Amino acid sequence: MTDATLDFSNNDYKKLLDKSTDLVLRQFENIDLQKGYHDHPQSEVEEWFDEVLPENGMDPSQLLDEVEEKVLNTATGNLGPHMYAYVMSGGNQISIIAEKLATTINQNQTKWHLAPAMNEIEKRVVRWTADMLGFTPDAGGVLVSGGSAANLTGLTVGRNIFFEKEGIRKKGLFGQKPFVVYASEEVHSCMDKSVELLGIGSDYLRKIRTNDTFQIDVGALEGQIEQDIANGLRPFCIVGNAGTVNTGAIDDLEALADLAKKYGLWYHVDGAYGALAAVLDQLKPEYKGMERADSIAIDFHKWLYQPFEGGCTLVRSWDNLKRTYFKKAAYLDTELANDEFRLEYNEHYFQLSRNAKAFKVWMSIKAYGMKQFRDMIQKDIDLTEYLNERVRQSQDFELVADSKLAVSCFRYIGDMTEKQEIVDFNHRLMPELEKDGRVFIMGTKLKGDYAIRACLINHRKSENTIDYLLDVIRDVAEKVRKEQNLSMV
Ligand SMILES: Cc1ncc(COP(=O)(O)O)c(C=O)c1O
Repeated sequence: MTDATLDFSNNDYKKLLDKSTDLVLRQFENIDLQKGYHDHPQSEVEEWFDEVLPENGMDPSQLLDEVEEKVLNTATGNLGPHMYAYVMSGGNQISIIAEKLATTINQNQTKWHLAPAMNEIEKRVVRWTADMLGFTPDAGGVLVSGGSAANLTGLTVGRNIFFEKEGIRKKGLFGQKPFVVYASEEVHSCMDKSVELLGIGSDYLRKIRTNDTFQIDVGALEGQIEQDIANGLRPFCIVGNAGTVNTGAIDDLEALADLAKKYGLWYHVDGAYGALAAVLDQLKPEYKGMERADSIAIDFHKWLYQPFEGGCTLVRSWDNLKRTYFKKAAYLDTELANDEFRLEYNEHYFQLSRNAKAFKVWMSIKAYGMKQFRDMIQKDIDLTEYLNERVRQSQDFELVADSKLAVSCFRYIGDMTEKQEIVDFNHRLMPELEKDGRVFIMGTKLKGDYAIRACLINHRKSENTIDYLLDVIRDVAEKVRKEQNLSMV
């Protein structure tokens, strides 16, 4: 039998750790110059990694060189200030350290005695998150992979508690009349996926029209609920948006809470993108009613500047989670536990083995403090307003939608005057901007028409980077216009 292990001597390992630290630090050098995107063809990237299963290991120091060249230096620019697409935060330096330490001790966040400190840290982060949102301090909660998982979890708890008397966990959905989930037409696509996964079916996700500021039309929602009841369906859940992905719109969460109460429905809030901006005093009133939700989805890898992954579902009590997920198994029994007060996460969530997602959140909140996080969120919002203002004042851009959060939708107009031509041109511009790569930005459709969409969730941006964004779009757009005009001659 061999007594070998996979470990290096501490001396050799320190050299590797030091080298990996150098790699980390080099990513932060000249960060303002980092490209938004590196335009390598897919086949080229595939080729970099085209090798047979290695039988013998290579020198790890050389491996780090390879990683730096092929992975780090070609990475899409989430870290730097030139990323505007989707909802991408730049992470933070304390969480980098936290991830390394958490991986080192390799705790399994499933049974309390497998990770005592990490379990208590997760419970503390849940408590702090409830504080941030003004939610009940008795909230139960679980750290999940992100916004999609957090929404699925909220709806799962909702379904299992709402239909508990019918024995849904045992009997499944068979024999139930169809039940209905309500959200605005701006709801994130993860809600479609969630109702499909939960056996509700996307036919029963009612997407209610929105007003001019992309908030759900509450009157239309109530009309739909009444109609569904009249048609023999069973209204189950209202989903409110605390910041839509398209424009950052926040629904009238108080009105939705009232409706949920009136009809006895589960009330879920998707706060993946926007809920954490409720920490700003000036924005708090926008979120009134969120504290009445039965479940809330939050994403720490958005507005708490955490590296992927990390989201959270809050529900009104730990008992809600236990009644949804608890399963007895001989190998998980707590009968012999030395302490009756341990909270067992495997009894409160679907996953058994789980990594310690709360640790980076906890370390960064302690290291930076909420004041710094609030300042950074406010900075993102102020810079978005700066962008909106620059767009409004320019001759060659038009603002399509602004928001109270940090999303701005606009179009390049140049010398074009016809709306359809402008919309089509902006659509055409996207792949050209990707090829250029200096900034990474995408678009979306608002009420059917295409627009460029900038989402600012990165504490490394400044007014200069916003000016740069518009300069780059203008530069690429003018080139495309020129080519277009030449090809027409
Ligand atoms: C409002 C909203 N909900 C849900 C999600 C999904 O989150 P994730 O990408 O973390 O799964 C997003 C992502 O942008 C979002 O903006």
